Amino acid sequence: MNVKYDATRQGLDLTRRPRRLRNSAAMRDIVAETRLHAEDLIQVLFVRDGIDEPVEIASMPGQYQHTLESLVNAVHEAVDAGVKCVDLFGVPRDEDKDAEGSVAWDPQGILNRAIRAVREEFGDRVIVMADTCLDEFTDHGHCGPIVKSPTGDVVVDNDRSVELYERMAVAQAQAGAHVVSPSGMMDGQIAGIRSALDSQGFEDVSIMAYSAKYASAFFGPFRDAVGSSLQGDRKTYQQDPANRRESLLETQLDLDEGADMVMVKPAMSYLDIVREVADFSPVPVAAYQVSGEYAMIEAAAANGWVDRQRLILEILTGIRRAGADVIFTYYATEVAGWLAVGQR
Ligand code: PBG
Repeated sequence: MNVKYDATRQGLDLTRRPRRLRNSAAMRDIVAETRLHAEDLIQVLFVRDGIDEPVEIASMPGQYQHTLESLVNAVHEAVDAGVKCVDLFGVPRDEDKDAEGSVAWDPQGILNRAIRAVREEFGDRVIVMADTCLDEFTDHGHCGPIVKSPTGDVVVDNDRSVELYERMAVAQAQAGAHVVSPSGMMDGQIAGIRSALDSQGFEDVSIMAYSAKYASAFFGPFRDAVGSSLQGDRKTYQQDPANRRESLLETQLDLDEGADMVMVKPAMSYLDIVREVADFSPVPVAAYQVSGEYAMIEAAAANGWVDRQRLILEILTGIRRAGADVIFTYYATEVAGWLAVGQR
């Protein structure tokens, strides 16, 4: 169809034509309100005891359970791409799991060895964050020890869990972690960990609080990633996806207890929560793009149903636009590489 230009034609009488700011890539770039930077992205990495070669995680194609050696290489790749923080999860040998998860505070436990190895290699060039939770280390897969309540119910013991998190956090600080990140959703865990760290001289180790963490089906692939022993669910300690006000309370409590940073998790189905937390938090806000979010993107991309790179950048930009200052993502290194060559 050939539409002829007619100089006498009166166009619509519009004062505002927002399309003017969209009419070239350069124009779009200068008016973009939200940008991704490598510095905003935290690379999540898994390290597993008792393996000689990295093992690809079936439900998270492209992600690995690392050996200590391949972990250090993965951190090199992240740092070379401009990533400033890695978050480490440990996968112990099955025979090292017990009811309390004691290998979590053993200095020779896999996660503590990994923290030490990365800190020795990189010093302060990359922030070493450690996951501070027992679910990978307990033989029942819960985030803390199980007890019978006075009424005979089997429950995860809140206060005992906090005591064990304190030990774990101190062991992580001793191994060289810059940041500990309690993800177990026990009441009082931030206060407990803060005072334990301070009493051992670790006033400078910070706490990334998983403040609003939902009992989510999006954690499914993670359970593969860490070889979880969990039967059942975590609904008595993680939040109900139906609730929003509760997230504001959880975040406020963590702030009162001394959280240096707060987090909302998962990310994409909880962007309203990210926005609300960002609107009142006086400390940096993180969002965690979790394993199931990763798996969905990879599955759709593998089928050729979506443009993988555009989708990843769009989702991460959306999480930032919702108010997250930093994003935990399995894509950090890869995306940092794209950003370095001007993709956004
Ligand atoms: C618990 C923990 C989980 C994740 C991070 N920390 C799993 C859970 O709560 O069941 C999930 C991360 C992901 O799905 O990517 N320590």
